[in-house]
Amino acid sequence: MQNSKIILTEELVKRFPVGGGYFTALNKINLSFGKGEFAGLVGPSGSGKTTLLNIIGSLDYPSEGKAIVMDQSIGDLTHRQAARLRNKYLGFIFQTYNLLPVYTVYENVEFPLLLLDTTTTERHRAVLDAVEWVGLTDKLKSRPGQLSGGESQRVAIARAMVKKPEVVLADEPTANLDAANSHHILQTMEKLNRELQTTFIFATHDEKVIQYLRRKISLEDGTVVNDENLGNEK
Ligand SMILES: Nc1ncnc2c1ncn2[C@@H]1O[C@H](COP(=O)(O)OP(=O)(O)OP(=O)(O)O)[C@@H](O)[C@H]1O
Ligand SMILES: [Mg+2]
Repeated sequence: MQNSKIILTEELVKRFPVGGGYFTALNKINLSFGKGEFAGLVGPSGSGKTTLLNIIGSLDYPSEGKAIVMDQSIGDLTHRQAARLRNKYLGFIFQTYNLLPVYTVYENVEFPLLLLDTTTTERHRAVLDAVEWVGLTDKLKSRPGQLSGGESQRVAIARAMVKKPEVVLADEPTANLDAANSHHILQTMEKLNRELQTTFIFATHDEKVIQYLRRKISLEDGTVVNDENLGNEK
């Protein structure tokens, strides 16, 4: 089921000021994503993958054109409105895990739920489920400093998924995982995609990720050069 477009870009341009001029990181991107997609932005380093994910995630804004996410135009949102959009609908997995070092695994995963209207019991159930999805139930009381890189990224994935967001934006989520862990994580995300209709958009170079994608969008120098249905049917 991929009828409603939950993300849409129209002639999206992003320019960054560099020196006295501008560098065009995204040049007239027209893309749309329906509910339940499992899609990846692929392309060489510097092609604009992270820039595009950041705008879709309302962490940055367009220079020209539009990015519409859950019917909200990113360029028109106040900081507060953008934060609300992220809290309610979006989960993030970054290249670096961004875990809070003084908190336990349990507390790190619980964190996004504290920004929503949830009871302690609901949070407890959701945290235990999310930590189990990534296979870290035995590390609930550990702190990030006591975890391997791979384990830290798995905590970050549990944190992104704990509130069952509409969309998960994952920037190189397997960069620090070995092959077995990468497959475990991808299968977990695929399962959540299938069961909850969570839309996943990856930015990646990793062939292991690409082999799971159902749609591969190739970027070069800030433009979409190919948009391919890979036919990995659910
Ligand atoms: N804040 C910024 N200021 C100036 N230039 C920037 C800024 N952010 C990104 N860029 C430039 O925009 C281009 C796209 O960067 P982006 O991080 O989106 O690439 P990417 O495809 O994610 O690359 P990688 O695979 O290395 O992560 C790059 O040339 C980068 O140097
Ligand atoms: Mg990047």
